[in-house]
Amino acid sequence: MAAARKKAAETLAQVDVVIEVLDARLPGASSNPMIAELRLHRQRPCLKVLNKTDLADPLATTAWLHTFGNQPLVKAVAVSSKRPADVAKLPKLAASLAPHRNSMIKRVRILVMGIPNVGKSTLINAMVKRRVANVGDQPAITKHQSRYDLGEQMELIDMPGLMWPAIEYPSDGLMLAASHAIGENAYIDEEVAVALAETLLIRYPALLAARYKCETEGLDGPGVIEAIAKQRGFRIKGGDLDYDKATRTLLSDYRSAALGRITLETPQSRKSMMEKVDAARAEKAAAEAEQAAIKEALRKAKSGPRDSAPE
Ligand code: G4P
Repeated sequence: MAAARKKAAETLAQVDVVIEVLDARLPGASSNPMIAELRLHRQRPCLKVLNKTDLADPLATTAWLHTFGNQPLVKAVAVSSKRPADVAKLPKLAASLAPHRNSMIKRVRILVMGIPNVGKSTLINAMVKRRVANVGDQPAITKHQSRYDLGEQMELIDMPGLMWPAIEYPSDGLMLAASHAIGENAYIDEEVAVALAETLLIRYPALLAARYKCETEGLDGPGVIEAIAKQRGFRIKGGDLDYDKATRTLLSDYRSAALGRITLETPQSRKSMMEKVDAARAEKAAAEAEQAAIKEALRKAKSGPRDSAPE
């Protein structure tokens, strides 16, 4: 990871604009904080591309565009890389962030970054209008850095997917896993599906009810999995419910948008989640500091007479 970070920092020094590709279904969780840190260190402007909007909730996408659009040195746009008309507007937008370049002598150098599986390869292929990058649903398929001409005045640089070493908020890991940005061996399907079900119960109960013909009132995450198994008649040998199959069904229905267009987080829900987690962490740290202070005071009280110098 240190090597990937070093390589990214070196590459950033040689580019004018960063296109950061995000998954529109989880724009906060799919942005790697390392990208912002490296980019801001070099003062590079950024075009945040909310990709896969064909799968995302349009209202939530509008809210995210507004939030990102208010960040310094940032423009944000929503696209589906599978729609050529969406992709066609990107070079001009990216170039508008580097007005001092954009000529045959000073070409705009655009770096495409993003975590695995957000659609970087699909986007690059669509932008250069030929198949130059491997598209695949297995995370981290792009391994090497490559450069492509984008007309005479721009060039596109592709960076391998940058996964961060530790995911700061546990719910981000679950959202990333649900959306297939984390490899299959790195998480437990059942845990991810239960967390997904819980989010859907809060944000999209009507979609769950419509797809699985169930009453969502009073259900919890595991209850949704059970309801799917019952409704679909998923049983293992002996007649017990097949929870594994129901788990896979929910994940697959979310990933393919068979459930409907879903966004797992809004700017507001993300802000509340971060505030809650940060407050809990601060409380824990304060309690630990207090415990340590008490232990230290007790230690001093016990060793006090022995510590004092003899008269
Ligand atoms: P990466 O380079 O960032 O790792 O992502 P990549 O382009 O390989 O895309 C990952 C998966 O996301 C691919 O699915 C790709 O088709 C899909 N994808 C990319 N952009 C969009 C989009 O705007 N909308 C939708 N719905 N899907 C998108 P796949 O199943 O591996 O490939 P395929 O069978 O769909 O071609």
